[in-house]
Amino acid sequence: MARYWRTQGPVALITLTNPPVNALSAAVRRAVTDVLCRALADDEVKAVVLCGENGQFSGGADIREFATPLSGPALVSLVHDIEASEKPMVAAIEGVALGGGLELALGCHYRIAHAKARLGLPEVTLGLIPGAGGTQRLPRLIGMPSALEIITTGRHVSAQEALKLGIVDQITDDNTVETAVKFALSVIGRPLSSRRLSERAVVCPVDVVGVLEAGMARVKRRACGASAPVACVQALTAAATLPYSRGLEKEEHLITTLMDSSQARSMQYCFMAQRIAGKWSLPSGARWSNSKPTAVHRVGVVGLGTMGRGITVSLVRAGISVVAVETDKKQMDMGKQAVLGMLERDAQRRGDTGTRGHPSTHLLTFTLSMQQLGNVDLVIEAVFEDMPLKKRVFTELCRVCKPDALLCTNTSALDVDELSAVTHRRPLVVGMHFFAPANVMKLLEVVCGPHSSPEAVATAMTLGKRMGKIGVVVGNCPGFVGNRMLMLYLDQAHFLLEEGATPEEVDQALEEFGFAMGIFKVSDLSGLDVGWRIRKASGLIGPNVDPKAPSRRRQGNRYSPLPDLLCEQGRLGQKSGRGWYLYDTPGSKEPRPDPAMRRFLQEYRSRYGITPRHIHAHEVIERCTYALANEGFRILEEGVAAGPEDIDVVYVFGYSWPKHRGGPMFHAAQVGLDRVLQRLEHYHQLHPDTPHLQPSPLLRRLVKEGSPPVHQWREHVRHMHSHL
Ligand code: COA
Ligand code: ADP
Repeated sequence: MARYWRTQGPVALITLTNPPVNALSAAVRRAVTDVLCRALADDEVKAVVLCGENGQFSGGADIREFATPLSGPALVSLVHDIEASEKPMVAAIEGVALGGGLELALGCHYRIAHAKARLGLPEVTLGLIPGAGGTQRLPRLIGMPSALEIITTGRHVSAQEALKLGIVDQITDDNTVETAVKFALSVIGRPLSSRRLSERAVVCPVDVVGVLEAGMARVKRRACGASAPVACVQALTAAATLPYSRGLEKEEHLITTLMDSSQARSMQYCFMAQRIAGKWSLPSGARWSNSKPTAVHRVGVVGLGTMGRGITVSLVRAGISVVAVETDKKQMDMGKQAVLGMLERDAQRRGDTGTRGHPSTHLLTFTLSMQQLGNVDLVIEAVFEDMPLKKRVFTELCRVCKPDALLCTNTSALDVDELSAVTHRRPLVVGMHFFAPANVMKLLEVVCGPHSSPEAVATAMTLGKRMGKIGVVVGNCPGFVGNRMLMLYLDQAHFLLEEGATPEEVDQALEEFGFAMGIFKVSDLSGLDVGWRIRKASGLIGPNVDPKAPSRRRQGNRYSPLPDLLCEQGRLGQKSGRGWYLYDTPGSKEPRPDPAMRRFLQEYRSRYGITPRHIHAHEVIERCTYALANEGFRILEEGVAAGPEDIDVVYVFGYSWPKHRGGPMFHAAQVGLDRVLQRLEHYHQLHPDTPHLQPSPLLRRLVKEGSPPVHQWREHVRHMHSHL
């Protein structure tokens, strides 16, 4: 848990040893407290270096212990003991110093970091605030404005930035521990009082109140109802206005309240869900992560439209060579310009202004010839969403690519298995479904067809991770996981309009729940014509189906033609200046309620004899979120996702589901599965023509089994599958 040894000179070394990230579990805190006592009691020891094993300083408090009562010494006391030491304490930071890890280092009198180290206080991303003095010490070290920004965003800071800000005293490219030992030797005997951050005054700008008020306004605007960012500003306000000890009391009070909150539980669940989703395969129980990925040095991207460009940029950012192929010369020139522009903006953001362009542009080849894909290890096809075209492209790829090259499609809905059938390498075909804009959005659905090999899935997942994506393995079905669930959520939103709600009312309810944007604002932003085209292509609307038919049913089920009617009127969303909302000009982003939309909805309802009723925000949330969870249960039953964590990760990272609500499956568990079941039964009774409101068999089964906690559902599903 912590190793102690004396170097040959007067410096003692304390090493945190809790792989993989040296999380500060109770056992580690106990061990460090013990060895610190030894070091302080040993007259031969004149200075101490604190470091972590395996090139990691510490990933902070042990998140798995949050659910259990505190045992062992509190981190806050340990940090105090370190700071109070009369012998200089030097932190040697390699890998990460995050959360409690950085707080431990802030207790030290000096900090030396490796040039590749990352530091930060990411507690806010787990629904918490730093709780071991971090909110009080950091502003005393680097000033209020920077501390405010770092603590409220939870972002990781590079060693270079940490040096500039004054978080660390020195950075090194050499052996960090040796450098820290040398440094420690050089500071023996120097007075320590000014190095104890708790004894310093906070570095505040003249208008610190204004800075904090602006910070509070900013976090409230962005927090979408999350409490932790607000608590961060409150703790920092205490640092600015109260003596250290009182500020610390405030920090403790705030973290104690947050620790018990369902928001913190939801966000910590999201953290773990992301890691679980990153390991498991489909419900067979096999882990794709047990399979060896093939090495990928060079990737082909076919099609330089919106998606191809974003994918290319993400690959180059990860240092991977790309051969980008287009058929259309004009598209290629435009695509090339867009890719180089994005990379150049990256370079400017990083302050890399010495050379024009991105330092990695040498990794890029643009071509009109597929022949150039002969030596790529993997291809990501991103041409138009059209099966015959994709089949032609895949046939050609088989001809030009190495026999062992992986062929991936960025389709968002088409059948990956049907596509793989045109190749002679079905095990090497998988879907890599990126989300727009692909250079920004974190989610990647890796679609595993019935013939895809575990190695191919492992390769796509590993490549995704290198690209900074959060990968989730999903099965091959229309819409995969994300878009399949989205359809039902959209349906409910449209039905609510038919029954009496307005787009503003639905959006407001969803935003109060925590979505950054309501579903109708999102639809306007992405363009209503996208779904319209898909519905037309799938035969849901068209010459043989009258959207004005009084039954408003398609294939026996309730169907709302509202979005189709809007498209027919040219209301395509922001791009046409009118959609569910009105915009000042086409392309403007500020939605305003549209009186014409209200009239249109009234006429629509009277045409179909619907008596509008007042719809409470509560019903909006129940109908939308329970429909999502219900479809999630069906997805689990069908084995399209391996566990609830996978579905939640898809929704949080691909569809902006609020992290402090954990994801639709976790939310259903928080509400109580019996309650969700009962409400779905109620809504299904009222709307028997909406089969998606009919509770899924898995939901019924879980309720019957006493509503086990989310982390046990995966086992239940596996059990269910093994008995089919
Ligand atoms: N407590 C407990 N376990 C932790 C942990 C923590 N603070 N940080 C990481 N881990 C575990 C992960 O769950 C994972 O466990 P697993 O292998 O059983 O799945 C393992 O360490 C490796 O983490 P992973 O995230 O897969 O590795 P990475 O190299 O991609 O990232 C970190 C490493 C440290 C950057 C990342 O794990 C992280 O951000 N950790 C949380 C840091 C944090 O928020 N600390 C503040 C706590 S209040
Ligand atoms: P998306 O929004 O999914 O990225 P786009 O319509 O923006 O789709 O882009 C698809 C791109 O694929 C277009 O630039 C088109 O020229 C290109 N394309 C179509 N067929 C081929 C092909 N056979 N080879 C390479 N590129 C192609």
